[in-house]
Amino acid sequence: MDYICSKCGKKVSVSTRQARCSCGGLWKLDFTPPPFRPDGIDKSQWSQFRYRKYMALEDESWRELTLGEGMTPVVRMDGNVLLKMDYMMPTLSYKDRGAAVLMAHCKAAGVDYVVQDSSGNAGNSIAAYASRAGIPCEIFVPQGTSPKKIAMIRAHGAVCTVVPGNRDHCAAVCREKADREGLYYANHVYNPFFYEGTKTYIYEVMEQLGRIPEHLVIPVGNGTLFLGAVKALEHLLESGAIVSMPRILAVQSEKCDPLLKAAQEGSREPARVSPEPTLAEGIAIGVPMRGEEILEYAYKYHVQFIHAPEEKILEAREILAGKGIYCEHTTAANYAAYLEFCRQNGETRDCLITMCGAGLKSDH
Ligand SMILES: Cc1ncc(COP(=O)(O)O)c(C=O)c1O
Ligand SMILES: [Zn+2]
Repeated sequence: MDYICSKCGKKVSVSTRQARCSCGGLWKLDFTPPPFRPDGIDKSQWSQFRYRKYMALEDESWRELTLGEGMTPVVRMDGNVLLKMDYMMPTLSYKDRGAAVLMAHCKAAGVDYVVQDSSGNAGNSIAAYASRAGIPCEIFVPQGTSPKKIAMIRAHGAVCTVVPGNRDHCAAVCREKADREGLYYANHVYNPFFYEGTKTYIYEVMEQLGRIPEHLVIPVGNGTLFLGAVKALEHLLESGAIVSMPRILAVQSEKCDPLLKAAQEGSREPARVSPEPTLAEGIAIGVPMRGEEILEYAYKYHVQFIHAPEEKILEAREILAGKGIYCEHTTAANYAAYLEFCRQNGETRDCLITMCGAGLKSDH
């Protein structure tokens, strides 16, 4: 299997240790899944790998690594809102979808050490699956990351390095180390295998509901769920399984919104912003590395960027908890953004919101 550079089109085997092309472009996978059909789902496999016919996998490494990720319930919140409970995952966030596939790739490619930067959840997931794969790893997190996330990363045997400064600086420090020491950068944003996992979010909804709801609320920091979801929706559309794209409401923090600002200006590149502290730590990404790709899809499919109002995040978390759903702050931000959208635009029906991170993770 090959990577294709998204900038210059160069093809390179996926066994490469280069995190990106020499021209600076990020990799895409040279993979076209067969048309989606319900009978292509392996119903004997009780994990996201039941959709493996539609995922780029090189071998059977996933069998040793899977922790049963995926298969999360869809729960009704009220007459208009459905919640996809993606915090019901082995490490309590949706990142397990991507990490299981990315680490299966690392295992298949014989990688012997990985580094990764994260706001906490992706690092948690990579650390867990790296431990299963027997691959040592080091995770870089920014100062201020929830202590519970750091404790979980260390519990899986990974080295967790806390970097002073913001999330973007933390990524720069990790990349610099990876480059300097020639280490494998198992990063959820750079590595396209991660999106093969997040695609399953949509395949699963399709199987569960037999349809895709009219509105999907998806958080966007670096856009790893967004990009996987859009790829899978395009696949369903091309396969004739759905007749039109749903309306995606893409959530950005009020305190860090480079993509929302870019969309307001009609720009093809993320706007320059100065991230301010926010409870929604998971989406506080000032410089999204696949920002241009996200914006390209956003214009193509009329994605609506919406703000999570900072002062409404705790209230949203309380409302959800009052209905039995205890999610982390970044996840409550999705619901806060939806409520704000309804306040401004009126009742919004048939909406699926992801509950993608567990509450205990952001309790300090
Ligand atoms: C709970 C939660 N929601 C949303 C996100 C945003 O993901 P992304 O930066 O890939 O858009 C994260 C990322 O860490 C997260 O942990
Ligand atoms: Zn290139």
